[in-house]
Amino acid sequence: MINPPYLAAANRYDGAMKYERCGRSGLLLPRISLGLWHNFGDVNTLANSRDMLHFAFDKGVTCFDLANNYGPSYGSAEETFGRMMESSFKPYRDEMVITTKAGHDMWPGPYGNWGSRKYLMASLNQSLRRMNLEYVDIFYSHRFDPETPMEETLQALVDIVRQGKALYAGISQWPLEASQFAYDYLAAHDVPCLIYQGRYNMMDREKERSGIVRQAAENGVGFTAFSPLEQGILTDRYLNGIPAGSRASIGKFLKAEKITPELVEKLRKLNELAAQRGQSLTQMSLAWLLKDSQVASVIVGCSSVSQLDDSLGCLRNLSFTESELSEIDRILFD
Ligand SMILES: NC(=O)c1ccc[n+]([C@@H]2O[C@H](COP(=O)([O-])OP(=O)(O)OC[C@H]3O[C@@H](n4cnc5c(N)ncnc54)[C@H](OP(=O)(O)O)[C@@H]3O)[C@@H](O)[C@H]2O)c1
Repeated sequence: MINPPYLAAANRYDGAMKYERCGRSGLLLPRISLGLWHNFGDVNTLANSRDMLHFAFDKGVTCFDLANNYGPSYGSAEETFGRMMESSFKPYRDEMVITTKAGHDMWPGPYGNWGSRKYLMASLNQSLRRMNLEYVDIFYSHRFDPETPMEETLQALVDIVRQGKALYAGISQWPLEASQFAYDYLAAHDVPCLIYQGRYNMMDREKERSGIVRQAAENGVGFTAFSPLEQGILTDRYLNGIPAGSRASIGKFLKAEKITPELVEKLRKLNELAAQRGQSLTQMSLAWLLKDSQVASVIVGCSSVSQLDDSLGCLRNLSFTESELSEIDRILFD
């Protein structure tokens, strides 16, 4: 047979993947979700995208995080995912949590950006078509829009859920006060906010400092961390220079200038600490986020199956001693 159909691994729920409840909801999320922001667009190799997606699902990764404009080009990561729905994942749809978002630049003119009802509704319809789906599991407002009344954006989320085009609503990167307004508004309209998606990792603790993580917990909202590896910095990727093809070599979202000798020195020390724990630096960085249940899931990116395999290995050890935690802080912040 030239194209054998995909058959998911029989042992995908054998206990290696752990699942955590998303806030005060019935939904369990895999501690590791896969994000398709980079490396799944039409500039990438379909075979590699397919291998990474198959591998993820075979390992119990049930949550796939997308947005309208992931690619490049815009929309093409959703198209890749739609092809995979058709060719591989259709029989497994009910085993998957598929998310998308709207809020950033997507199409020209006044209706393809920010937080209007017009944009969110139209964008989700487009996303569903691209992904060959009848509904997504989670639809996010991708960012807070200071110029659209919050009620309009939030009511669009409520109506999207009522229409059955999304099962749950979430917000991403909203500031603290606006998030509280969102939690209260959505709860009052019987579509409680399921999840807050925010940038959070060992190096970037803004979501912790600003109270966003605690606020989510207090409101029964799950928290999921994106860029948990600081776009690859918190791995061994840049310990010996900037490899061709890496995100820093492309330079659009991660600038090579960020990889300073001082930073590499810190990464080397973190790498040694990780080795003492019997982990790779990637694994220690993810374990640091997952050590307690306030982070329901981390959304990792990857450009190869072996990177994802490395990341998944973090689940074998999520506990830290007090001295390891203070050593990490000392290395990063002293
Ligand atoms: N809500 C939002 O506003 C928002 C914003 C950004 C991201 N996100 C979501 O979060 C997801 C993850 O973001 P991210 O891609 O920045 O996450 P990340 O996990 O911090 O970075 C992923 C990158 O790290 C490198 N990497 C991963 N595993 C590695 C390993 N084991 N060894 C060495 N290098 C490794 C790869 O870089 P190379 O490509 O260089 O190999 C990979 O592309 C996105 O796909 C998206 O779903 C959401």
